[in-house]
Amino acid sequence: MSRRKIVAGNWKMNMTPTEAVALVNELKPLVVNDDVDVVFCVPAIDIIPAMEAAKGTNINIGAENMYFEEKGAYTGEISPAMLNDAGVKYVIIGHSERREYFAETDETVNKKVLKAFEHEITPIICCGESLTQREQGITIDWIRQQIKIAFLNVNADQAKKAVIAYEPIWAIGTGKVATTEQAQEVCAAIRVCIGELYDAATAEAIRIQYGGSVSGASAPELFAQPDIDGGLVGGASLKPDFGKIVNYNK
Ligand code: 13P
Repeated sequence: MSRRKIVAGNWKMNMTPTEAVALVNELKPLVVNDDVDVVFCVPAIDIIPAMEAAKGTNINIGAENMYFEEKGAYTGEISPAMLNDAGVKYVIIGHSERREYFAETDETVNKKVLKAFEHEITPIICCGESLTQREQGITIDWIRQQIKIAFLNVNADQAKKAVIAYEPIWAIGTGKVATTEQAQEVCAAIRVCIGELYDAATAEAIRIQYGGSVSGASAPELFAQPDIDGGLVGGASLKPDFGKIVNYNK
């Protein structure tokens, strides 16, 4: 088993283009780690300047969202071809904030995932339960359902390249990290689900991140879990602490 770790920052709605360039320049010496794929998912308007600032470094610039149509009358949306043209290789799909505030559903997530693969952009597919769902004891059922719909009509070769981010909603931006056991339990269940949908080789290859208040302090233990292949990081991705997360094994 030798999955390469992937640590992605999700800047959310932060950083003007000028600030984005300054942040990339500040973080670039801190996020060097040959063992890890490093991605900064940034607001659409920051993609081009961040890409320029990251040239020649190990930083990949990703997007936070993408629409599932090729082009046309969809005011305000970003197309996969636009991301291709800008050189974007990763896109976050179905973050819980998009589901909550922008009415994204498992079905639109699936359409976006298929479209991303069509354009050879790696989707970082988000799933996660609310606090109520966790308290009701339906976490695993809920996550399995999200995964099954997200991967409808996705073939095994594509699934092998996908990244899944397990982000318990109650742990996002709250400072409340899931315990290592909670995070590992759900990430393992996701891998089992992928094994059922595809086969053992696909389950073994797919990378599963944990997200939710990840910090330089919590990353080493989380990323040492057998089914956790890195993190999707919000708040800490805007600070030098992100360098510690990327260098969790040093
Ligand atoms: P925080 O790391 O700020 O909790 O955000 C997690 C997240 O939503 C990443 O996508």
